[in-house]
Amino acid sequence: MKIRATKTPLLEWTGDGLVIGLFEDSVELAGDLVTLDEKFAGSIKELIAEEEFKGKQGSSVVTRVGTATPVRKVVVVGLGKKEALTLETLRKAAASAARLAKKQKCKTVGVSLPIWNDDAEQTAQALAEGVELALYQDNRFKSEPEDKGPQVEQVDLLGLGEQEAAITRAHQISSGVILARQLVAAPANSVTPITMAETATAIASEHNLHVEILEREECEKLGMGAFLGVAQASDLPPKFIHLTYKPEGTPKRKLAIVGKGLTFDSGGLNIKGAGSGIETMKIDMGGAAATLGAAKAIGQLKPDVEVHFISAVTENMISGHAMHPGDILTASNGKTIEVNNTDAEGRLTLADALVFTTKLGVDAIVDLATLTGACIIALGDDIGGLFSPDDALASELQKAAEIAGEKIWRLPMEEKYFEGLKSGIADMKNTGPRAGGSITAALFLKQFVKETPWAHLDIAGPVWADKENGYNGVGATGFGVRTLVSWVLNN
Ligand code: BES
Ligand code: MN
Ligand code: ZN
Repeated sequence: MKIRATKTPLLEWTGDGLVIGLFEDSVELAGDLVTLDEKFAGSIKELIAEEEFKGKQGSSVVTRVGTATPVRKVVVVGLGKKEALTLETLRKAAASAARLAKKQKCKTVGVSLPIWNDDAEQTAQALAEGVELALYQDNRFKSEPEDKGPQVEQVDLLGLGEQEAAITRAHQISSGVILARQLVAAPANSVTPITMAETATAIASEHNLHVEILEREECEKLGMGAFLGVAQASDLPPKFIHLTYKPEGTPKRKLAIVGKGLTFDSGGLNIKGAGSGIETMKIDMGGAAATLGAAKAIGQLKPDVEVHFISAVTENMISGHAMHPGDILTASNGKTIEVNNTDAEGRLTLADALVFTTKLGVDAIVDLATLTGACIIALGDDIGGLFSPDDALASELQKAAEIAGEKIWRLPMEEKYFEGLKSGIADMKNTGPRAGGSITAALFLKQFVKETPWAHLDIAGPVWADKENGYNGVGATGFGVRTLVSWVLNN
């Protein structure tokens, strides 16, 4: 599928499907659309009246416009209130238009949507992102593709002028999101610590990043007892991934992104019981997937910022040499942890990943993790939890997420709750009471970062979607990649 911005005027465009957008409460056709409608013998007006189309955001109608016209189908998408138009509205409008056009078997699609904030470049990027992310389909595990009908081959963005750079950027970012979706969606017998390391190595050679994979022995030498405690029941070797992107010249800033990378989470001996969603726990490397997706995008976007991408990858399994509940592990900063629940494994792997990252001398660290069910209870399926002792970094991330159209919400790091993690025998336990479980998890992580500004994103909810929503289909969303990219680009 090819996306391009064309200078062809709306009235002269020819192809299978033409997409137009109308605002709420002003669905009367104006300007070029009047002439267009005349060309189509009034069928757009008729469609709007017949379908009682009101321009509500998320609504859409479609009609055939006769055989003699240079266009086969017209798709009208609702854009909501004109004053409330955002890039995210446009991304979603482009997504639903692309989906509809595909359903209508349109191979060539023209998209004529309004320009956001007089910014044709950002508009083009948002539209291209919406189209690419909505049309992505995962056929890797089907013996035959589900949908063998005609695919959208060409999308023309109309009325935006020359926008090659913006469309390329959208493609680079989308390639990172799609990589993250593929990694998350693949089952645990397909995406393993070994294949995660291979993926990191492939990103490095493709986009010119530096890669280092630490094997078990090297992790042992570094004293990563918490990470290795989790890894010890798996028959697969743990892999500690460290990718580095360095710009040409002196970097403006040095940043680090750390992702939780559990390719499967059985819970360990505190095994996940009925109704705990054990069969979905291939998603538990969603943080690492977003980290690698961001690395792929940033390797192509080439910002003036140095970025480190880190993940301690393993699976949380059961065997004769599994951690026992109650075991005491020593992390690489010397802190001792009483593992009172083997299912709180993500924070153990992150502990050593954060200690390692803190030593890199970066200006800020952001970690992403499918860390707690408690965060889903707090914020639901669509919103990630943001935790940070650093107000400036927290607001940078909030701004980045806003631009990306990904939803995050800041939750407090209430120090008093750390009392819940007090251990009678070690420096801390790995779990506290059920109440406030995502906060104690964040407070646990905080023990492993020093002065470096640090933020933690709990993405247990938005890593996966049960329902189609905008440019996200059912399944892995690639959540986090676009927020990370926009954070790095704005640094
Ligand atoms: N990977 C899970 C968290 C999770 C739950 C992610 C549901 C996505 C969907 C994590 O390792 C876990 O098991 N957390 C426990 C912590 C508890 C033992 C304190 C949880 O949330 O139940
Ligand atoms: Mn767990
Ligand atoms: Zn987990």
